[in-house]
Amino acid sequence: TSARLTLDPAFRIAPVEPRLFGSFVEHMGRCVYTGIFEPGHPLADADGFRTDVLELTRELGVTLVRYPGGNFVSNYRWEDGVGPVGDRPVRLDLAWRSLEGNAFGLNEFMAWTAKAGAEPMMALNLGTRGVAEALELVEYANYPGGTRLSDLRRSHGVDKPHDVRLWCLGNELDGPWQMGHKTAREYGRLAAETARALKRFDQGLSLVACGSSNSGMPTFGSWEAEVLEAVYEMVDYISLHAYYDPSDGDADSFLASGAEMDHMIRSIAATADHVGAKLRSRRQIKLSFDEWNVWYQSRFHGESSLEWAEHPRLIEDDYDVTDAVVVGSLLITLLRNADRVGVACQAQLANVIAPIRTEPGGPAWRQTIFHPFALTARHARGEVLRVEPECATIPTARYGETPAIWATATHEEATGEITLFVVNRDRHDPCELDVTLPAGLVPAEHLELADEDPSATNTAADPDRVVPRPGAGLRLDGRRAALTLPPVSWSIVRFA
Ligand code: AHR
Repeated sequence: TSARLTLDPAFRIAPVEPRLFGSFVEHMGRCVYTGIFEPGHPLADADGFRTDVLELTRELGVTLVRYPGGNFVSNYRWEDGVGPVGDRPVRLDLAWRSLEGNAFGLNEFMAWTAKAGAEPMMALNLGTRGVAEALELVEYANYPGGTRLSDLRRSHGVDKPHDVRLWCLGNELDGPWQMGHKTAREYGRLAAETARALKRFDQGLSLVACGSSNSGMPTFGSWEAEVLEAVYEMVDYISLHAYYDPSDGDADSFLASGAEMDHMIRSIAATADHVGAKLRSRRQIKLSFDEWNVWYQSRFHGESSLEWAEHPRLIEDDYDVTDAVVVGSLLITLLRNADRVGVACQAQLANVIAPIRTEPGGPAWRQTIFHPFALTARHARGEVLRVEPECATIPTARYGETPAIWATATHEEATGEITLFVVNRDRHDPCELDVTLPAGLVPAEHLELADEDPSATNTAADPDRVVPRPGAGLRLDGRRAALTLPPVSWSIVRFA
């Protein structure tokens, strides 16, 4: 097939928001314990943080990390995770039927994010708890000193306040699997009263209201509308969560996940704007896509199938080349919507549906999906440009006809550099892509993620089986560049 597109710095969407390259650390499986935190590991630092995982986190380019859940947060008592470690209780985590020893808590997380160079994004428990406990946590975390809870923090060895700016008002409370699941009306009231109180504490906090757990929920759309009617003037973001997989073996639909995510973003942005219109508000609510990834949910047999255990191996999906191409296309979608999506978090960071895998006492390695994330986070700089490829469409069972080529680009004013990110979803044919460039730019770097075997994965024994490789055959003719995109491929081309 063939396709063409134009890169023009005049067609701007919005600046690249650094918070788009967020990740997520939940107390789930081995994300925290033996993932980022493993005292006694040969590479653990004095805080018990795995330095190999810290290095990979920095290489991944993670700017923001959401914590501590996820489903976990809806039954979590933050007080259990602070103070002398020997005094911390072992609790039942009902979300994942796990034993939580609480050796890692708020202060450890803050110390870890500082070392990772990332901003913290904290989730509050609005499942089994409410306004009072949310206020107490914010006082403990953010107030300088001289009050009971801020002095408690100081007595725990943390003199300066953490000053967390971004707070989630609960997690997925539309889901019946959640401890303290609520109707939209119940949640809207609780979120509004919590937000009102938090803003009384600090007007500058950024707050995220829970949207739907996924676009297949029966209340998708109406949940957001009802919740936003209650909280519109007090929150900054509404959350979106989406996981994609080829559970029914339908690879063409799976490869079109980027287009589906685009549709979901537009639907929720329209819903938020509709509420804004009804309320005659001048504010615009942004979207926090704070859980997204490929997740083979069909391989997970539900929480009730789990035996009580301490940090068990949960949903440690092995990702292949196709999964990495889908992750690349989801990042393209987030950038294409940079005018509405203000926060995004890939779920999760280590071991649990994650770009980074570890073995207890052993190595850490990059899964295939690590690579498009790291390259996008590193090179998406400046302004996102509107890119509209002219290309063939591919029929899909789930989403109808979807474009074969999915692309975005960024432009850095200071250097003049334009970076193109492009996916060829076609499973059979390469695509000859013709790119029209502004005068004076020439290709500086061309990398692609593709493989003869789209099911190839990286393992502890062969951690670099799948890596981005220099793309071949990029031709330049004046202001036109031509390149061949292999079937099922993700590519990045930097023009300087
Ligand atoms: O990321 C795994 C789980 O997916 C999270 O705990 C929950 O919020 C979502 O359903």
